[in-house]
Amino acid sequence: MPADMRSRLGPVELPNPVLAASGCAGAGRELAQFIDIARVGAIVSRSIMTEPRTGNPAPRLAETPSGLLNSAGLPGPGIDAFLQRDLPWLLSRGGRVVVSIAGQTIREYGALASRLSGAAGVSAVEINLSCPNAEDAGRPFALEPEAGSSVVAVVRGSLRTDVPVFAKLSPDVTDIVAMAAACLASGADGLSLINVLLAMAIDAWTTSPALAGAYGGLSGPAIRPVAVRCIWQVREAFPDVPIIGTGGVRTGRDALELLLAGASLVGVGTAIVNDPSACSRVLRELEEEMAVIGADRVADVIGMAHGARGRVPRGLARRP
Ligand code: DHB
Repeated sequence: MPADMRSRLGPVELPNPVLAASGCAGAGRELAQFIDIARVGAIVSRSIMTEPRTGNPAPRLAETPSGLLNSAGLPGPGIDAFLQRDLPWLLSRGGRVVVSIAGQTIREYGALASRLSGAAGVSAVEINLSCPNAEDAGRPFALEPEAGSSVVAVVRGSLRTDVPVFAKLSPDVTDIVAMAAACLASGADGLSLINVLLAMAIDAWTTSPALAGAYGGLSGPAIRPVAVRCIWQVREAFPDVPIIGTGGVRTGRDALELLLAGASLVGVGTAIVNDPSACSRVLRELEEEMAVIGADRVADVIGMAHGARGRVPRGLARRP
């Protein structure tokens, strides 16, 4: 019998735990020629800001071993276009939508949350805390528990619905659990772990930084072990808090690893760049991986590694 893949995004039920992570699938339209949007657990939109933005100058992408560096600079159409054009399109395709929001000030996050309050069909809001805080010398909100928790409090207070709020944290902190605690204390219902790592590459041929903005965010398989560690630590501290795990998931086995660490949902991001059907493939592979370990329900594997150090899975003999 096929495994029961139904998953929970806070109070919302999703058909499966595989999400398109923020940033790599736009607002979903780009994926529709490759996959059935309705089959993806949910589409997390690229981070929406109040105004349209073109983003940073090129080059803003660079490849690194097992990773992708990017400094896109949060390009996007702005909240009005998202609400008028992208959200209705996603819903018309039967998609479930998590809206990622990004602001340069706490006020901007509040304004975005207010706008989303009136929008039907939003399954959850994900707060991208990795934006430079315009009021604090450009330091990202995600680096200080006080800054991050202030954003969460304003978003929660500005949403006039009980739509679940997930705070997306940066791994670039010494204590991810302290950051998680601050966001949960301010009203986050769940956490997204992890955003990109701040990184840099230099082109030895041109002798210049590979990206126009010098620094960028590292994503892809290179960061998966960091994601596993962060998810593990937060799950140990807050076993009942839902976690959207993201970071270098390319295969069903990678997705299973994040679930075993404690994520209840798994986002596929950078893998979409060279395989636009990655969400469907990862879901199919995850079902196969679950059969191998003899798991009948997604709910049974979430955080399983915490109680099972040294356990021999039922289906281990069949594992290639
Ligand atoms: C950008 C923002 C992010 O939060 C991220 O994870 C990667 C890139 C950006 O648009 O620059």
